[in-house]
Amino acid sequence: MATAGKVIKCRAAICWGPHQPLTIEEIEVAPPKDHEVRIKILATAICHTDTLPMEGMVTNYNYPSILGHEGAGIVESVGPGVTDIKPGDKVIPLCFPVCGLCRCCKHPNANTCDRIDGGKYIGLMADGTSRFTCKGKLIHNFLTSSTFTEYTVVADIACAKIDDHVALDRACLIGCGFTTGYGSAVNAANVKKGSTCVVYGLGGVGLSTVIGCKINGASRIIGIDINKEKFVKAKKLGATDCIDPNDCSKPIHEVIAEMTDGGADYSFECIGNVDTMLSAIKCSHYGFGVCVIIGVAASDARICIDPILLLTGRTVKGAFIGGYKCKTAIPQLVTEYLAKKFEMEELVTHTMPFEKIMDGFKLLHEGKSIRTVLNLHGGKKC
Ligand code: APR
Ligand code: ZN
Repeated sequence: MATAGKVIKCRAAICWGPHQPLTIEEIEVAPPKDHEVRIKILATAICHTDTLPMEGMVTNYNYPSILGHEGAGIVESVGPGVTDIKPGDKVIPLCFPVCGLCRCCKHPNANTCDRIDGGKYIGLMADGTSRFTCKGKLIHNFLTSSTFTEYTVVADIACAKIDDHVALDRACLIGCGFTTGYGSAVNAANVKKGSTCVVYGLGGVGLSTVIGCKINGASRIIGIDINKEKFVKAKKLGATDCIDPNDCSKPIHEVIAEMTDGGADYSFECIGNVDTMLSAIKCSHYGFGVCVIIGVAASDARICIDPILLLTGRTVKGAFIGGYKCKTAIPQLVTEYLAKKFEMEELVTHTMPFEKIMDGFKLLHEGKSIRTVLNLHGGKKC
């Protein structure tokens, strides 16, 4: 493309610091270096995780930064050494890269690659520099992806080529929210047919967990949320019961134990709150219950747990992005979506132009949206 090798000037939403709205600015995006890919982002969704740096909930976060990690786009150019991706390819930037070389990448059951930036939040490329500048200032990236920008640069290990036929304004959800919830049920927990599942939090991640539990044949799926408006979609997607803990006279795990002959086979925490994490552990049945922690809590949050809950045979596990190795799993999920193995339409409640991004965050905070998809570059359909 004509822009290859040149600096691209475009628009991005910048997070200058905590407790400040993102502002749309003109930025410069440098060309990709070795093993890097420059992507024209066409669509990005807003995920709850983007709010953590905005609210100052990440210790030692490197501002200023371009947030967004649930996006999809078309490759503009690639740097030297990139072999599996070429200009024009449809891709999803990976917030969980796969280097293929570290111990976790070589382990069949792990997806916690050494090159993941979540938790460290360095926000720079592998060579310690950034491809983004704004008003002469270095701008950091977020979760090896940064999708609240018309162009981004990511490492090739953080970029997955996807099927050319997919609509990018839906494929973007597979970059994080959908995959996190769905994969926690079908992959991390591997929910068994006929089982009872409890899903705490019925946002985009929780509803995707419900979809996964149903596809794997769970016979009972209990959704928990303090916002009853979430129940309609949860039921449509497969929840058999929905409960607002505020309507209960006893703790919700006790209510679940009564409903399920002692506790659930599987429970999923899709909120990011340590109190609901503990409740999710308690609501799983002793002896065989499995609790999967999916929600991301503030960096200084801690769970205090009675060890007897573990001694009595519950399994508590956590999973990033459904426990999947994203480089291969994300293209596979896109193909399965095209084959109509699952639907994502119910998850997209709002679509807006990029510049309305803060309206999208407002809807999220008000509990009015599941996923808001932002269209970049004037929202051309592709
Ligand atoms: N009890 C029950 N439900 C709650 C509670 C609570 N104490 N607090 C919040 N909720 C509900 C909200 O009403 C909302 O419906 O949890 C849901 C969370 O949904 P979203 O805010 O849309 O978040 P989502 O994008 O689904 O992400 C959920 O997963 O990946 C992580 O960082 C992400 O921690 C976040 C979690
Ligand atoms: Zn690795």
